[in-house]
Amino acid sequence: MRVLVTGGAGYIGSHTLIELMAQGHEVCVLDNYTNATPAVLTRVRALSNGKIADFKGDVRDPAMLDRVMQDFAPDAVVHFAGLKAVGESQQKPLTYYDVNVGGTLALLHAMDRADCRKIIFSSSATVYGEPDYLPYDEAHPTRPASVYGRTKLMAEQVLTDWATAAPDRSAVILRYFNPVGAHASARIGEDPKDIPNNLMPYIAQVAIGLRQALTIYGDDYDTPDGTGQRDYIHVVDLARAHVAALDYTCKTCGARPFNIGTGQSYSVIDMVRAFERACGQTIPTQQAPRRAGDIAAMQANPARARAELGWQATHDLDAMTASTWAWQSANPKGYDAC
Ligand SMILES: NC(=O)c1ccc[n+]([C@@H]2O[C@H](COP(=O)([O-])OP(=O)(O)OC[C@H]3O[C@@H](n4cnc5c(N)ncnc54)[C@H](O)[C@@H]3O)[C@@H](O)[C@H]2O)c1
Repeated sequence: MRVLVTGGAGYIGSHTLIELMAQGHEVCVLDNYTNATPAVLTRVRALSNGKIADFKGDVRDPAMLDRVMQDFAPDAVVHFAGLKAVGESQQKPLTYYDVNVGGTLALLHAMDRADCRKIIFSSSATVYGEPDYLPYDEAHPTRPASVYGRTKLMAEQVLTDWATAAPDRSAVILRYFNPVGAHASARIGEDPKDIPNNLMPYIAQVAIGLRQALTIYGDDYDTPDGTGQRDYIHVVDLARAHVAALDYTCKTCGARPFNIGTGQSYSVIDMVRAFERACGQTIPTQQAPRRAGDIAAMQANPARARAELGWQATHDLDAMTASTWAWQSANPKGYDAC
């Protein structure tokens, strides 16, 4: 299939390009490079068959979208382009609604104009909010606790209404848990521009000497070691979920959400110990009080994705930490050195 990948130069998008091309799909990237560099695509081309059409532009720009639709004529879209920092979303709510919801609306309008009827959307486990029960299944109530989570839920609702308004449309909503890890080549990986918002890249930057110590927020949660537990998913497994979702759009109509996680959770201390095994060093840590809005634990029930998409995660925790360390140690300054 011909697949337009918005935000394809980003962390998850770049890994997904490789998996899509490995399955024979033709890909095209639309990215405005607010959180990426074109060097990513140079590396992805070198790792795959080399053919990636790319456009520099904003997913909210109708003229740019029409140009991409006309030139590339996609059969389907994988929509990664968006903003993802929970803390920043509280300070810049309008920007987040504009990019994450407005961008999705603009894209769907352009798809309608081009008669493109299949989309896969990057949603997030943050749509669930405080758990009524764990693991979360897709029927769990959605009560996002942040602006970011609400933009994702709102985009899900727009996509669901779009997909059900005509008989031949398909929208697959993938609710990611905590993506970590890097490609086995160590040529592409997560490269945060500022202070990392997520645990794994932060630990990796401590290990490489860019930061002094990991701050652990809260050691008195109701978890076995008192630190917060999350369901971490290897980015290559996550990328493959998009390939499975693309196949699914060919067989189904309407909209359907899927949890994309492993079904297992690890604490902050578990992650630190696993990373120490991978890099052979001690990771310095310091303790701080809980952060407002953080929950004790979260974990996916990925049974629906297994049953309906035929997808399940195959990488374990050591594969996640080893690949992160391989990427970080081979690229201490990320893509900056390119
Ligand atoms: N990484 C995570 O922890 C996580 C978890 C759940 C959901 N998600 C979602 O998955 C998607 C991809 O996440 P990621 O981690 O790869 O993030 P990323 O920032 O690495 O990738 C997003 C890409 O979109 C591009 N982009 C941003 N705004 C754009 C715009 N207006 N027009 C065109 N391009 C634009 C950026 O330059 C970047 O290349 C996002 O929508 C994010 O919200 C990520």
